[in-house]
Amino acid sequence: MIITSCGNSVSIAKSLARKLHAKYCHLDISAFPDGDIYLKFNSSLKGQQVVIVHSFQPHPDMSLFDVIWAAETAKDLGAKKVILIAPYLAYMRQDKRFNPGEAVSSKIMAKLLNKSIDKIITIDPHLHRYKSLKDIFTISSIKLTANNVIADYIQRNIKNPVIIGPDNESYQWAESIAKNIKVQSTVLEKTRFSSHHVSVKIINPIPLKGQNVVIVDDIISTGHTMAEAAKKAHKQGAKSITAVCVHGLFAGDALEHLAKAGVSKVVSTNTIKHKTNGIDVTSLLVSELKKRK
Ligand code: R5P
Repeated sequence: MIITSCGNSVSIAKSLARKLHAKYCHLDISAFPDGDIYLKFNSSLKGQQVVIVHSFQPHPDMSLFDVIWAAETAKDLGAKKVILIAPYLAYMRQDKRFNPGEAVSSKIMAKLLNKSIDKIITIDPHLHRYKSLKDIFTISSIKLTANNVIADYIQRNIKNPVIIGPDNESYQWAESIAKNIKVQSTVLEKTRFSSHHVSVKIINPIPLKGQNVVIVDDIISTGHTMAEAAKKAHKQGAKSITAVCVHGLFAGDALEHLAKAGVSKVVSTNTIKHKTNGIDVTSLLVSELKKRK
């Protein structure tokens, strides 16, 4: 097995290679003076299983392009199988045509990957209107979840926590994590008016006064979802508010926004490299690859 990365997840790729006693291959990706992509593998790939580890953030569009280029080149060089590990898979939130004329980006992304790779492994993809990755991927697809590593982090770092999911879909993380560490949880109801305007309502109240509240979601993008949930917890008298996410996109001034809403600490997993990374997902990927090595 040869493990490589197109640039966004080099440290996870190297750590996977070390833990699996596989070879890490550096990939040169740059541009010709006119902007055309230049890509070169630095190992022989003939007959090998090639694993490309690459998160689709930052630069989701270039990431898609780089992964396709790397996969096609690997096959052209004789690789027997190309597996993509996308710790964060972009484009999944545009899973329907919300307004006439819009692109359904998740379908286009999957269609392109279906043609170039043999298998995809990803962590907590945003499955809202799709039931499973199989709704868009025709290749073999594996969905892993960071729930256990997040639960472990909360248990080790936050005393007597209560968990909040900021919207309906977040029950998949909030309820499962709360059950795992045997604490109380509630899921709020969110209405989104635009990218930067959401409101949340407490539907099933739990005592938050004097509690260490942990708000858990799959994605923090603009931070507005978390911020609105944090404001509610703050109003109810929470002692501390920690925002935990699987994928920290932190678009624009998301972190400032969260601080203003009363969030004391923000923690993300390392599916996307960021200064808030406090939870490592490598063990999930090691176990998955070991099953099939
Ligand atoms: C959407 O349904 C996701 O689960 C997140 O709640 C959402 O992507 C967060 O976005 P933002 O931080 O921009 O509110």
